[in-house]
Amino acid sequence: MTIPTDMTAIAIAPPGGPEALQPTQWPTPTCNPGDVLIRIAAAGVNGPDLAQRRGHYDPPPGASPLPGLEVSGEIAAIGTSVSGWAVGDRVMALVNGGGYADYVAVPAGQVLPIPAGWSFAEAAALPETWFTVTQTLVMRAGLTAGMTVLVHGAAGGIGGAAIQIATILGASVIAVVSSPAKADYARSLGAIATIDYTSQDIVARVMELTDNKGVDRVLDIIGGSMAEKNVAASARGGHIVQVSTLDGGSANIALRTIMAKQLTLSGSTLRPQTPATKAAIANRIRTALLPALAAPGFTKPRITTFPIAEAQDAHRLMETRAHIGKIVLITRFGSGQ
Ligand SMILES: NC(=O)c1ccc[n+]([C@@H]2O[C@H](COP(=O)([O-])OP(=O)(O)OC[C@H]3O[C@@H](n4cnc5c(N)ncnc54)[C@H](OP(=O)(O)O)[C@@H]3O)[C@@H](O)[C@H]2O)c1
Repeated sequence: MTIPTDMTAIAIAPPGGPEALQPTQWPTPTCNPGDVLIRIAAAGVNGPDLAQRRGHYDPPPGASPLPGLEVSGEIAAIGTSVSGWAVGDRVMALVNGGGYADYVAVPAGQVLPIPAGWSFAEAAALPETWFTVTQTLVMRAGLTAGMTVLVHGAAGGIGGAAIQIATILGASVIAVVSSPAKADYARSLGAIATIDYTSQDIVARVMELTDNKGVDRVLDIIGGSMAEKNVAASARGGHIVQVSTLDGGSANIALRTIMAKQLTLSGSTLRPQTPATKAAIANRIRTALLPALAAPGFTKPRITTFPIAEAQDAHRLMETRAHIGKIVLITRFGSGQ
């Protein structure tokens, strides 16, 4: 296959509202010795893309300034020091930026095979959120079978991944949502119970559902006043994982309760992690989670697709908070053109 020197990409010019996303001609990335070059079929849209577009989340040094943190597609070229992959392999990858484009170069350790039975569009919806949840809730917070997990934003990308990963690992999820439709979706992914925060008291309901014990783990993207509720809803020895602060970056929490309950509060952002850390997360996903994704009957996350030329509309939909599941952009290659 001939790889063009230039490609079409969606650039942020300059940061602002969805209209900042503009199609542009861009140099095709170089495939360095440790990279694979992926011809992109689909790219997932994530919360951090919106923050980057608004000018609130700069790419780390050396990363592509183009948005897009996860893709699926076919391997178009392989770096000289890479083994285990072949040109034409169908893959999905966590990328360090540059996913809204025709091609992206990515360290080989961040690439995974597409599970059997998954389309490009479905696979592009996985990496960013599954890497984030695997690193934080599983590898850092030690989620194991038998635990109970409270998952906020449960019908979104991160929340949906948390439900599915916890369920695969044998934990039980209580999902926090804002509508009956989102509750139905969370249950379809495996949640054993839901709490509608618009009409129910989260802490009281958690205590009812856990015989007053509280939850062993919390996956929170809300922050602000939710932090206090997370502490109150946690069981002794619990661990609260903070991966975003959509409702506020400051909180008033009861430090004595953290001491009395022996709680841990940890936080993380995925993008600045080293390639070695991202490769370790990929290995964990490959061994602990991919077999379940390929099993017959596995419920895939719901996706809403847009042609990549309509990236602005994709961002507008995400900003409404009405969407359920993931939003995915389809390139010309992904649409078969
Ligand atoms: N730390 C990391 O490494 C990392 C990695 C990826 C993503 N993130 C962050 O995680 C957050 C969620 O990302 P995502 O891709 O899961 O987004 P998403 O698909 O839009 O899901 C967010 C969910 O949270 C709920 N929500 C509750 N309060 C909200 C608020 N104030 N603003 C927006 N949504 C709210 C929304 O439903 P309702 O409004 O119906 O409740 C929605 O279901 C983003 O802030 C993103 O930047 C962090």
